[in-house]
Amino acid sequence: MGMDFNTIKNVTDTYTAHTYARYDVAITSGRGAHAFGPDGKEYIDFTSGIGVNILGFSDPGWAAAVSEQAAKLQHSSNLFYSEPCAVCARRMAELSGMANMFFCNSGAEANEGAIKTARKYSLMKYASPGSAHDFNRFEIITLDGSFHGRTMATITATGQESFHNKNFSPFLQGFAYARPNDIASLHEKISDKTCAIMIEFVQGVGGVNVLDAEYVAEIARVCAERDILFIADEVQTGVARTGKFMAYEHFGIRPDIVTVAKGLGGGLPLGGILFGEKTKDTLQPGDHGSTYGGNPVVCAGASYVLSRIDEDFLAEVRRKSAVFTERLLSLPGVTGLSGIGLMLGVALRAGNAKQVVDACREKGLLVLTAGERIRFLPPLVITDAEIAAGLDIFAEVLAERE
Ligand SMILES: Cc1ncc(COP(=O)(O)O)c(C=O)c1O
Repeated sequence: MGMDFNTIKNVTDTYTAHTYARYDVAITSGRGAHAFGPDGKEYIDFTSGIGVNILGFSDPGWAAAVSEQAAKLQHSSNLFYSEPCAVCARRMAELSGMANMFFCNSGAEANEGAIKTARKYSLMKYASPGSAHDFNRFEIITLDGSFHGRTMATITATGQESFHNKNFSPFLQGFAYARPNDIASLHEKISDKTCAIMIEFVQGVGGVNVLDAEYVAEIARVCAERDILFIADEVQTGVARTGKFMAYEHFGIRPDIVTVAKGLGGGLPLGGILFGEKTKDTLQPGDHGSTYGGNPVVCAGASYVLSRIDEDFLAEVRRKSAVFTERLLSLPGVTGLSGIGLMLGVALRAGNAKQVVDACREKGLLVLTAGERIRFLPPLVITDAEIAAGLDIFAEVLAERE
């Protein structure tokens, strides 16, 4: 017998640091897009653990891949070669078209490594004697409203004042912030100091804001022209979430560095930095590392996730996105919809996204917020019946607030 909800809550609040404003819900098991609580409560899940469980809860094939590897070898360190790590990296290269990758454990770590790579690339290329550039070419431009993680470098990179006002100064040197979808603002920020531009194609935490195609094309153009590295933070958008393997495919470009995490591990902690031709040899032994990065158990799970992603899978994501969109746009309280694929932001006439999230949860639907929008990140394998059941609850909550 496991603990009841109140015991789980009390023990957690006593023995873990108070960094999360948790809901009064514990999830003890799940299948697909169905989550179950210790008290027998049942929920439809439109969150997938914030974009992580893309195959839903405890997919049997994924669970088997993970447990088989755990029973064989759980960890050996990066001092040695490991087949699950090799297989996973090769599949990522095949699916993404990038050259090689570095494995880490989270999105923030992936972005840390991308920032380090950009600085080293620039230094190696432009800090030599006689170069027109000097050693100041280390600045990274990110966008207002972005979110890149919680480490010191990535909160600095995050373009939201609320993250900078907290008590963690001094922040890092070498970041500048441009307005999204404003080409003039981008050009104002670019200078001889710029070594990289880092963007999310769809800002997740910032409100499910999609970048304009012309804006992305201009970033790609200026990066190529000035040998500035284009870093795409695909931690939330990557690995099929938008109905393409990577969101950059929607924009017809390929960045120099792409960071991934969330969906890749299917529920276990795994992040990655994908390098293109320009950056594939920038990091050398001693430059970067991670004890757990590329762990065999996690990589075995990730390879299983990747084995499920093919053209049919991606087409299904796009079809389900259309199912969501059509129904959502028919709901009286919905004033706007943003996002791509199964990363959707819903703007509401009723306002107060938090109250809507609370009311949905009371009725058995788990959803997220992003700024003032409701954010849906359902598992990519969600069924039509689960979508319908979840949207029935959502419609009921909106109707009560009209
Ligand atoms: C775009 C983006 N980058 C980075 C991160 C940080 O990832 P992690 O929480 O795995 O460090 C997130 C997390 O929400 C994210 O959405």
